[in-house]
Amino acid sequence: MTQTPRAVEAPEPLAGAERLFSLDPAVVHLNHGSFGAVPVPVRRLQRRLYEEQEADPDGFFFDLPERVAAARARIAGFLGTEPELLALVPNVTDAIAVTLANVPLAAGDRILVTDHGYGTITEAVRRRAEETGAELHTVELPLDLPDGDAVREAVLAAVTDRTVLAVLDGISSPTARRIATPGLLAALRERGVTTVVDAAHEPGMLAAPVAPEADFWFGNLHKWAFAPRATGVLVVRPEWTGKIRPLILSWEDHRGYPANVEWRGTLDYTPWLAAPAGFELLDELGADRVREHNRRLAGYGAGLVADRVGLAPLPASAGLAMRALRLPAGVAETLPEAQALMAAMWRRHAVRTVARPWPGGGVLRVCAQLYNRAEEYEVLAAGLAELLA
Ligand SMILES: Cc1ncc(COP(=O)(O)O)c(C=O)c1O
Repeated sequence: MTQTPRAVEAPEPLAGAERLFSLDPAVVHLNHGSFGAVPVPVRRLQRRLYEEQEADPDGFFFDLPERVAAARARIAGFLGTEPELLALVPNVTDAIAVTLANVPLAAGDRILVTDHGYGTITEAVRRRAEETGAELHTVELPLDLPDGDAVREAVLAAVTDRTVLAVLDGISSPTARRIATPGLLAALRERGVTTVVDAAHEPGMLAAPVAPEADFWFGNLHKWAFAPRATGVLVVRPEWTGKIRPLILSWEDHRGYPANVEWRGTLDYTPWLAAPAGFELLDELGADRVREHNRRLAGYGAGLVADRVGLAPLPASAGLAMRALRLPAGVAETLPEAQALMAAMWRRHAVRTVARPWPGGGVLRVCAQLYNRAEEYEVLAAGLAELLA
């Protein structure tokens, strides 16, 4: 189902939610989707854990495997999956590397990605294709494809009998669209294709984020699940757990998956220990209420900017806290142009937002989180109108 941005009413702010963050009031932060914003109580817990570590480093690291396993179990519970399927990782950039090192590929195999994929994820797949002699095929999904069925059909039409792997976004970064739907994943599975889902944005943004149909599914907790940065998860189907080899050999290697993937020698693991507190906070606030607030505010913000600036609204997947708008032809068609637009929005209007290049006119992504207010989208609209004039 799709929705078109329109100027609906902005939702009421959730009482007290703004005080959970410590963003500079001079910054119009409309880009939660890139790096998140860690709530104060979660940071406080992480700082306490860090102090504990520094009070007795040997004792802290001695007990750490059990504490990480306990955090993993709680996180799996919040995500609705099983702890033995889930490995903690620093981020999805790390998770794709583990994934690609474990999927068998041979010369002549075909790998599918789409043109909505995240830059470094697609590049990692391209490198792996080069190393193995596999062929990378990029499925082009026109920005105006109306709904999930059209996306599914476009991807399936690109499958051949040589296609062995598909690396697809759960929610695409530049275009805020759901691509790897359960129906698409099941259809690929039926055709014998190994499926990998980049679900960087799903934890926290969706009520039931994990796709059990996917062979490999990975997401960040530091975007929408209020975890400290450097907290991601990799979830694999049961048949993979006995086969996964980590990229880095650690003292926990003998334990097998997931501990063998999690441990990378001496590092700061406090973000992982504090991560369950992000989910707890979401539950205390009412996770569904937070999602509804963010969904409505993103719709309001995107509709307002589209109306004021005269931008073409793009079809959007329902229920998301991010929306994408099409910039006019000639604007942000290349990466340097998109970067220049973002830099100008920051320099002239103190607005943090994301524009990504696209042939025929770039794409602007609008995010909404509890700390955002309706007036901030007015600042974005006015700034953008001035810059495009
Ligand atoms: C869809 C998607 N994939 C991958 C990433 C990379 O995330 P990280 O840098 O946390 O690995 C992002 C970050 O914004 C993203 O949006």
